[in-house]
Formats: sequence, C-alpha cells, structure tokens
Amino acid sequence: MRDFAPRLLAWFEQHGRHDLPWQNTCDPYAIWISEIMLQQTQVATVIPYYQRFMESFPDITSLSAASTDEVLAHWAGLGYYSRARNLHRAARLVQEQHGGRFPENREKIIALPGVGPSTAGAIMAFAWNQRQPILDGNVKRVLARCFAVDGWPGTTAVQKQLWQLADKLTPETEVSAYTQAIMDLGATLCTRSKPRCDECPFCRDCRAHQQDAVGRYPGKRPGKTLPVRRATFLVIRDQNNATLLIKRPPAGIWGGLWSLPEHGSEVDSERWAANQLGLHIRPQPPLSCFRHTFSHFHLDINPVPARLVDMKNKVNDSGDMIWLKPGDTPPGMPAPVKKIMEKLP
Ligand code: ADE
Repeated sequence: MRDFAPRLLAWFEQHGRHDLPWQNTCDPYAIWISEIMLQQTQVATVIPYYQRFMESFPDITSLSAASTDEVLAHWAGLGYYSRARNLHRAARLVQEQHGGRFPENREKIIALPGVGPSTAGAIMAFAWNQRQPILDGNVKRVLARCFAVDGWPGTTAVQKQLWQLADKLTPETEVSAYTQAIMDLGATLCTRSKPRCDECPFCRDCRAHQQDAVGRYPGKRPGKTLPVRRATFLVIRDQNNATLLIKRPPAGIWGGLWSLPEHGSEVDSERWAANQLGLHIRPQPPLSCFRHTFSHFHLDINPVPARLVDMKNKVNDSGDMIWLKPGDTPPGMPAPVKKIMEKLP
C-alpha cells in the first residue's frame, strides 16, 4: 500500500485527536511523561494524572529533586508502578549525566529506565519530528490487521515483521502527525473489540477485513490462563476511625505504595493481627469480595473491616505504618485499596 501515510494523514486531519494536553508541545520532557503514562493506560484515565503530575513536576529538575514517595503519590491509581519508579530514576540520571537536558540521541533515550524502542520513537517523532517508527499495542493491531500478519506479536519473529512494516510505512515528513494518527486510528476505530471498519480509511485494503477475519488479528497468546490468588485485606480502625496503612516493600507489586494489612485466605484475621501486628482486633462482617487483575495473576480480594480493641499495643506512626484519620490527605494507595476505603460505611 504505497499511499498508506497520506491516506492516514488525511483521515487524521478530520477525525484524529488534536487537543490532548501533551499535544502542541515540543518539550521532550512533557512528551516523555505522557508516553510513559500512556504505555498501559487509556487516554481518558491519563489526562487528570498527567495534568497533576506536570503541575507538581514541570521539568526534569523538579522531578529529580522530588522524593520517591511524592512521585508515587502522583501515580497512585494508574497501576504498573514500576513506570513511576523508572521515571524518577531516569530523571535523576538525566539530571546527573546530561546536565538536566533530555538526551536527543536514540541510544541515549533508549538507555533511560522504562523507555523502549517504541516510546523512544514516539518521543523523537513528537518532539523533533524525526523519522522514527513506533510500535505500541495500538499500532501492532492496526498493522497486523491491515497486512494480515499472522501469529502472536509477543514472539520475536512476529515482532520483527511488524517493526519492518512500521519502518517502511513511516513517512519522511509530517512524522509527528503520522505518529499521532496511527495511534489514534488504533485507539478510536481499529479497536480490539467492535472495530468500526466502515469508518476506516483502509477498509477496502485491509487484508483482515477482506477475509472477514478482523477478530483473528493480532494473533492471541497461546494457552495459559492467569492463576488466581486470594487475600484478605484488613481495614483496621481505631476509636477515632483512623485506618491502619502499611507501606509495601519497594520491590514487587505496588512497591512503595500504602496498602491495607493483608494475609492469606486460610488464616484467621484476629490471630494473624495479634501475631503479625501485635494488635488485638475484632473482625466485622466482610464487605463483598472483588477481583483485581494484574498482568500475571488475578487477585481475589476479601475486604474485612475490623475494630481495634486494645489501644495498649497500638503501633505508632512509624516509617512504614500510619493511622490515616478521616479527612487526612491519603498517601499513594493502590486503586483497589482506594476503592475499599471509599466503600466503607
Ligand atoms: N498512546 C500512546 N501515546 C499516545 C499519544 N501520544 N496520544 C494518544 N494515545 C497514546
């Protein structure tokens, strides 16, 4: 398809998104922040987070001077928290090694923690209109369908085919608009479910559509259903309705965020709190169970409110435990914990 780029650009002009908060800037820092937030999260969710983040950390210097806690608090609810930790590490690295100036060289950009080849391409295309291909989830779907690329994009072979296509199709000029256009096509028309093929500029040429097999592309990951884990989340409240929060260790799931004390489903809450926290609690009827899905497992959460009975042994606010009083500004908490706190009677 020789006129792929001009047709996409013509569609974009009329139907693309032109006023997202990270558009109409050439500041590589602002673009970088948006691209990291958008890696695994939808535009509508990202917008308020992006705005708050940019208000608090308008440049590399302010981000590198912030504490990890402050950065994580701005990320709380967005998920995939290693993105925030990488961003923070990368900002400090740019501050120290590049004098606070965002690097302009592809290898140096890819060397930043959390930045892969596609994100680097997007930053360079948006900030400097440089001819760099991108291949994020949306673009993979568009290309796999349009050119009927078989197989799961998680494999090196399929990945390679898609990168070759992405590279060949990227135009010499108007790269910034083209990059936004192909992302927009994937996000708004060529969606995973219920794509709106009748509105697509490539409807007649799309090989998947011609075969009436749009749903077959991109190929699914073979086998493997996600394992299920269960956990009880204790909402321990004292006489003043302050809730006990515990800071998660820096590595692993929700690293560095403030969460509720949690234990496996097979143990007794009262005994667990006595042994592990030194607290005498009286559990109350559980709230309804719900599922939170991570990239590699489902977590079935059983929230159990409990009253603190004995003040004698109450752990004080120390480095990794706090009692959050009603009306206090909550620290960075994972989305499911926020949800539980909001549901409490
Ligand atoms: N997803 C990744 N980057 C994006 C961008 N710049 N605009 C919209 N969605 C995106």
